[in-house]
Amino acid sequence: MRLFGKVSIVTGASTGLGASVAARFAREGSMVVAADRNEIDGVSLIEHLQSQGYDASFVRTDIADEHSVKSMVDATLTRHGRIDVLFNNAGILLAGQDLPAHELSTEIWDAVLNVNLRGPFLCAKYTIPHMLNQGGGSIVNVGSRTGLFGCAPKLTAYSSGKAGLISLTRVMAAAYARHNIRVNAIIPGTMDTPMNNYLLADSLAREQYRSAIPMGRLGNGEDIEGLALFLASGESKYCTGGLYMCDGGVTAV
Ligand SMILES: NC(=O)c1ccc[n+]([C@@H]2O[C@H](COP(=O)([O-])OP(=O)(O)OC[C@H]3O[C@@H](n4cnc5c(N)ncnc54)[C@H](O)[C@@H]3O)[C@@H](O)[C@H]2O)c1
Repeated sequence: MRLFGKVSIVTGASTGLGASVAARFAREGSMVVAADRNEIDGVSLIEHLQSQGYDASFVRTDIADEHSVKSMVDATLTRHGRIDVLFNNAGILLAGQDLPAHELSTEIWDAVLNVNLRGPFLCAKYTIPHMLNQGGGSIVNVGSRTGLFGCAPKLTAYSSGKAGLISLTRVMAAAYARHNIRVNAIIPGTMDTPMNNYLLADSLAREQYRSAIPMGRLGNGEDIEGLALFLASGESKYCTGGLYMCDGGVTAV
């Protein structure tokens, strides 16, 4: 069990990639706090994990809301007394509303950036003081290749937020390296999660996305959980500031 005795916060744990990672962290011995604004799926995941004997809890959280993040971190400390891992994963993609710059409303820009960039910043801001007191920790941000390349021309706000998150990863890695707080980012490819229903519900589009991936299949939560575990655990003890592709080879071509 590679996270035995560790306390992990997983944001966006109710569905998709976060749900797989939260369950894997629990199976690896971590006490898991699932932080999400989707209470129905989050509670259902936690009940499932608890029924298997794992120490997991759900804290309803809106990561864009400073008070909500602070309460979630306080609840984690009250329950567990420490925080070893922050899996900064919650995010939104507003298909049909996130548009090329001249068509994009300021409200949608703000809404996306508030969740996808301000949210991970707030979670880090309130978690890091406790990692500093403990003498270390691991933060894993979930980025996107849209933050590196202009590969989603309609998603101006989403891409810009993910680019900011990559920068946040590197600046925090540099700032806290001497304090044994490591900060890395995972860059998923096209994953078959609820976020991508708008793309993948259409069988022709699904086939186009699938065939563009060198490994010939879409990714899913199981594909990412091993990398998340590596970066969360001491096995990556000399890794910080890194971007780790988990995309079936899509950014290699
Ligand atoms: N699916 C992909 O292809 C893909 C690709 C690259 C990056 N990503 C990133 O991976 C992460 C996980 O995405 P996913 O595909 O699992 O999507 P998803 O929609 O299945 O899961 C996102 C989760 O975040 C939660 N969430 C959204 N806004 C929140 C908020 N303000 N506060 C708290 N929780 C909130 C949702 O309720 C949901 O449970 C996201 O950051 C996403 O941008 C996904």
